[in-house]
Amino acid sequence: KRIVVLISGSGSNLQAILDQTLDGQINGKIAAVISNRPDAFGLTRAEQAGVVARLLDHKAFADRESFDAALIELIDSYQPDLVVLAGFMRILTPELVRHYHGRLFNIHPSLLPKYKGLHTHQRALEAGDAEHGCTVHFVTEELDGGPLIVQAKTDILTGDDEQSLQQRVHQLEHQIYPLAVQWFCEERLSLSGDGVMLDGELL
Ligand code: GRF
Repeated sequence: KRIVVLISGSGSNLQAILDQTLDGQINGKIAAVISNRPDAFGLTRAEQAGVVARLLDHKAFADRESFDAALIELIDSYQPDLVVLAGFMRILTPELVRHYHGRLFNIHPSLLPKYKGLHTHQRALEAGDAEHGCTVHFVTEELDGGPLIVQAKTDILTGDDEQSLQQRVHQLEHQIYPLAVQWFCEERLSLSGDGVMLDGELL
């Protein structure tokens, strides 16, 4: 399978997926990495691995619609089976989301449907939650609201702060994101009208 990864920053999730495509755990190849920010370290990670790294700077576009139209064109030039959002800090237009229906993943640092949006670690701490985690989901038009694929949990410990929690959740992200990509590349995972199917069963 061909994968295009969209990033805006460090790209540690990109790295986790990239490593598994290189060592064969993921039956697929990253055809391109696209960043909307010139300073994203993930672009360097891609280049170091010999993967195509492209910049599409949203600041060069008048509005979200024109940026997303150019983004679709750029993504599609690599003919991906799967598009992976890995810390891509842009709200997507409904047109883009619809265009990649059933083949667009995101990872979010909370146990969705809890804590959509930003500052998830701080919000889990402030709520006094016993546990926290991360979620891989299919992207739909509702922000952080698409059907869930896989979650990983960690207990919130006495003495945890935003940083310690964020670090632990990030480690979990690096486990479940490649796993979801593996499933998709092995054609074990799909989005149906009823929800997410894994190995022929509704999740
Ligand atoms: C992660 O926390 C992810 O959950 C969120 O953006 C961050 C990306 O981190 N969507 P990285 O760039 O993969 O290190």
